[in-house]
Amino acid sequence: MSLQLGDTAPDFNAETTEGKINFYEFLGDGWGVLFSHPADFTPVCTTELGRMALLQKEFSKRNTKILAVSVDPLDSHFAWRNDINETQNCTVGFPIVADKDKTVANLYGMIHPNASTTATVRSLFVIGPDKKVKLMIVYPASTGRNFNEVLRVIDSLQLTSKYSVSTPADWNYEDDVIISPAINNEDAKVKFPKGMREVKPYLRYTPQPELA
Ligand code: BEZ
Repeated sequence: MSLQLGDTAPDFNAETTEGKINFYEFLGDGWGVLFSHPADFTPVCTTELGRMALLQKEFSKRNTKILAVSVDPLDSHFAWRNDINETQNCTVGFPIVADKDKTVANLYGMIHPNASTTATVRSLFVIGPDKKVKLMIVYPASTGRNFNEVLRVIDSLQLTSKYSVSTPADWNYEDDVIISPAINNEDAKVKFPKGMREVKPYLRYTPQPELA
């Protein structure tokens, strides 16, 4: 049975470019992004890890650690990391797991045998401070991911974990959010002092509450 939203993210020990880590200790009590790529020294993967390196500050601002995974060995990761830094004008500052025995890949269902029997697909998991899986996305090898979308979802997850709201289609930070239908109008007025706009009794908007 593959992992599903709300499941506990499996813990593991791994060798990485930053030394041996235990996943839960690495995450601490913050958020995490665990993402796999098919192979080192491949073009799309090079751009993906470079993009994540350039966005690392944005993830840190959101108290979110980054961990990359592929089944290639550590010496390959070290050599490839130099290429990523050189070609993408970045410094990869997050660990890359050398998952030679596919421990992490199997725990997280990152190998999709009908796509490739050996390489991991582009899986990405967002894990909350409670160690539950909050987001799962899977892309094919030929398509690089949009990591701004991952930041956008983390903003939504952090907001909705704090307030009784959800975020509408194409929502971006500072856009209005939706008040949970479980909150009646009287309580909503107290909980959301910035105001409420009722389109339908089940569709009520309020300006985004503060996240910080
Ligand atoms: C790439 O990163 O470009 C790639 C990796 C594996 C298969 C296809 C493309």
